[in-house]
Amino acid sequence: MGIELARHLAWIAHEVGREIGVLVNRSGHIEYTFVGEPQRIYLPDIGRQRVGQGHLRGLRHIHTVFAGGLNDDDFADLTKLRLDLVCTLKVNETGEPGELEYAHLLPSNADIPYHKAKTRSIHELDIDFKQLIASLEEEISRVRGHQQKGKDKIRAVIVGVYADRNTADWRLTEIRELANTAGVHIEDTVIQLRRQVDAKYIVGKGKLEEVVLRCLDVDAGLIIVDHNMTPAQARAIASTTELKVIDRTQLILDIFAQHAKSRDGKLQVELAQLKYNLPRLTDLDAGLSRLTGGIGGRGPGETKLEINRRRARERINRLEREINKISRTRSLRRSLRIRSALPTVSIVGYTNAGKSTLLNRLTRSDVLVANQLFATLDPTSRRLRFPAEREAIITDTVGFIRDLPADLLRAFRATLEELENADLLLHVIDITDPMHETKSAVVLEVLHDLQLDGITRITVYNKADLLPHREAMLIATNRGIAVSAITGFGLDTLINKVAHRLWQTWALSENDAWAQEA
Ligand code: GTP
Repeated sequence: MGIELARHLAWIAHEVGREIGVLVNRSGHIEYTFVGEPQRIYLPDIGRQRVGQGHLRGLRHIHTVFAGGLNDDDFADLTKLRLDLVCTLKVNETGEPGELEYAHLLPSNADIPYHKAKTRSIHELDIDFKQLIASLEEEISRVRGHQQKGKDKIRAVIVGVYADRNTADWRLTEIRELANTAGVHIEDTVIQLRRQVDAKYIVGKGKLEEVVLRCLDVDAGLIIVDHNMTPAQARAIASTTELKVIDRTQLILDIFAQHAKSRDGKLQVELAQLKYNLPRLTDLDAGLSRLTGGIGGRGPGETKLEINRRRARERINRLEREINKISRTRSLRRSLRIRSALPTVSIVGYTNAGKSTLLNRLTRSDVLVANQLFATLDPTSRRLRFPAEREAIITDTVGFIRDLPADLLRAFRATLEELENADLLLHVIDITDPMHETKSAVVLEVLHDLQLDGITRITVYNKADLLPHREAMLIATNRGIAVSAITGFGLDTLINKVAHRLWQTWALSENDAWAQEA
């Protein structure tokens, strides 16, 4: 602070008998001037403009006092708003500037997160504030760098509104897994327990401010909302927070975009992204860039988001035509398969249940196996050989997930279309997942929506190797088949059951150890 400014502030405060405050930016310009009461001053609402651009706010708050120095309000402003500095300037009886007290944040998470100092007069102030702030920012980055696990990953804060703690727990686990699959590092979660989401901001306004401060604190540039936002909500949250905001559907679409391999899969993703983002595109105008680039706009649809509505519609039409064409070729392929009279077994199940691993193990192929959700997006068909020269086609499908928006379901028709001609479904369940009952209900619901619930189904409890043997056997006796796609446990029983359902004969005798021989 220059001597001139100090003099002016002291003099005005003295004249009006009230505290006077200013917010000074890093170039030394005053951005706000405000007048308080004789013993109190409140900061104006300074908005969130600088959030996410640095570790600190880029503003110093300097205000006069007639007695005392920094108080609790000042420290709260400093830490909550992450100001560069707070400073009080004492005004003496003659209206001259006197004692100065100032404080700045410290990089570590100490009990007292700031450092406080005092000088008797502005003339004695011997600090290069620019230098101080620069080294502080650097130090904060350094400390963060040490703390960060996935440094090159996009960092995000999850926001959710749930009716109760239980729901919050499992839904958060799921959205975390989704984020992990998308390659996003979750720094924190902010939840609100309430019956209904806020019509405007999903969470209450106050909670949204907390979210912004958390983002600032942990240096996250992305907010993931665990709900499907309306375009209006997306716009309201984005403009209030000035951060990139995506919802659950956009996160799922992003995963789809990263994983779709076939031409068909890619077209489907682009179509789904275009359709989902189109209303947001027309609404957003200035905020458009937030939806493009990086997560949420990654993938084949990315540049298309920037074209105008008419062209986007044309693109949608073209994609739909192309997808229909591909889908006709697929049905041709399928009917050839039907003519070849090979029965089809389709593996279905919640994401991460172990479908690809099971397919691999059963057919000894190497379909991508990843401990991520939705690792499989394109239907993968393999031949499954049974003893006695019998054969079937076995296909892996995309993982199911709760609340898959109708458009997504439709978009992935190509993947799920395979199921229509399936003679048998293997419903794979991860027995070690505490939420497996809810998840398998979701799978059954989706099958019902697709009118596929009439197809014979075998329920396969996978990952039995992670359970004590007795427990696995218990499941096998009471509920169906317990297997381990990794160790091969229970696969002989499974193969036997499949053969029985397909040809009404047992493929193996009780003593055949299919899994060992494979
Ligand atoms: P999506 O493609 O996302 O739908 O997943 P998926 O159901 O195809 O699951 P995937 O086969 O990719 O397996 C998910 C994770 O579970 C991987 O880390 C596998 O190694 C692991 N896994 C699969 N089967 C077993 C098993 O029997 N036992 C154990 N311990 N882990 C398994």
